[in-house]
Amino acid sequence: MNNHNQLPQFDLVLFGGTGDLVTRKLIPALFNAFQNNNINPQSKIIGLGRKPLDIKQYHQLIYDKLIQCKIDILDENWQQFLKLIHYIQLDANNEDDYQNLSSFLNTNIINIYYLSTAPSLFQVICEKLAKFNLNHEQSRIVLEKPLGHNLESSEHINEYVAQSFKETQIYRIDHYLGKESVQNLMAIRFGNTLFEALWRRQWISSIQITIAEDLGVESRGEFYDKTGALCDMLQNHLLQLLCIVAMEPPSSLDADTIRDEKLKVLKSLKPLTEENVIHDVIRGQYKSGAINGIPVPGYLEEDNIPEGSHTETFVALKAEIQNWRWANVPFYLRTGKRMQEKLAEIVIQFKDIPCKIFPGITNNFANRLIIRLQPDETVQLYFLAKQPGDTNQLQPVFLDLDFNEIFKSKDKQNGEGYERLLLDVIRGQLTLFVRRDEQKAAWHWVDPIINTWNKLNIAPKLYTAGTWGPSSTSSLLARDNACWHEELL
Ligand code: BG6
Repeated sequence: MNNHNQLPQFDLVLFGGTGDLVTRKLIPALFNAFQNNNINPQSKIIGLGRKPLDIKQYHQLIYDKLIQCKIDILDENWQQFLKLIHYIQLDANNEDDYQNLSSFLNTNIINIYYLSTAPSLFQVICEKLAKFNLNHEQSRIVLEKPLGHNLESSEHINEYVAQSFKETQIYRIDHYLGKESVQNLMAIRFGNTLFEALWRRQWISSIQITIAEDLGVESRGEFYDKTGALCDMLQNHLLQLLCIVAMEPPSSLDADTIRDEKLKVLKSLKPLTEENVIHDVIRGQYKSGAINGIPVPGYLEEDNIPEGSHTETFVALKAEIQNWRWANVPFYLRTGKRMQEKLAEIVIQFKDIPCKIFPGITNNFANRLIIRLQPDETVQLYFLAKQPGDTNQLQPVFLDLDFNEIFKSKDKQNGEGYERLLLDVIRGQLTLFVRRDEQKAAWHWVDPIINTWNKLNIAPKLYTAGTWGPSSTSSLLARDNACWHEELL
């Protein structure tokens, strides 16, 4: 158990304190950390919002949201935890409100500002924080993705944040990096010698990275329609996973050492031409269908979606990394809403054997390593073994490792990633946050997709909710003689 006196004391300010992210993700993550004795109880968590709420009403609002999301907080610690939570009414443009905030904060300890608001407010918030000297040495600012909607807008935001905060005070959050399973991916690669010799173009024929969701846009129609799957998921979560799969072994876990290696991957991505975008990038949108036998509406029928919207809810593409380790190895990335199941996985397809001596086996299933990140956290290795008896026939078999099963008793984090990331902000540990140059390189690579879609007015291909996306997604791999993992099952 942690000694509370050794834990850093902090004041955490949550801009957008009545919003979904704060109430559904951040508060449960902080509560979990509190239950695990990782929060100094002298700390304050301050929700900010425009609504005039007293503290009882704010506590009730949080409670109602948690119940709505079926998050279980019926715990005696909850009442203790609520003592840390405060509410201040603040209009991002009103200086008196910042004055009020500043008199509430203890600026001799760590002050964290979590900007869980529309990015259009980031500039004014940063300016006002600076004006009231709230950007002192011990302060940190946390920025939620997506930061901007293309390279130019993201650089614009980064530029004015940089006028008030140093890069070492800026925590660009990508909650995938906080997930236990994603950190385990690093451990699997860099904690074992087993894979390193094989982890290269000589032995790997292709890599698939999938983040699929069965949910639709839910109540976020307005936000989602302005964002789309490319900026919501691919530019950040998928490219971060790609970096971890493809990066060179870092010499330490030091924040900049890891981020330098990820940056090299992003900079080595083969730039996409207009022709590549037309042939190798698939833009999709779900139409009505069924998930687990239950009918669901199409994207255009969801709340707050403008008629005829071309926003994509699915994107799949082929990427290449131009370096000695990965030249000519295709990386297939895909993500989408309302797909057949919720799933995040990485499939490493090793090359076929050079010469077949056993009869009648198609090798498709073998030589495949599957690292599943969610909903379960497993590693499966598919290979071929001889069928028992008087035969030379081979049969696909697999080794199956279930991390949740193995670490059952130790798994106390809530799996979303926010708990670990919030604790890292409090500890001042930047390793799992995205550095400005990384973010810039990711946008730089994604920009031609946005530009081509806009220039050629490329409409999304429709796919039925509850499937794996538009049919052309299969052709993307079939052209290279490959197929998505589920197509083999
Ligand atoms: C968020 C996206 O970053 O990630 C959401 O904005 C998406 O649209 C979510 O649903 C998926 O995260 P997870 O942890 O549920 O896989």
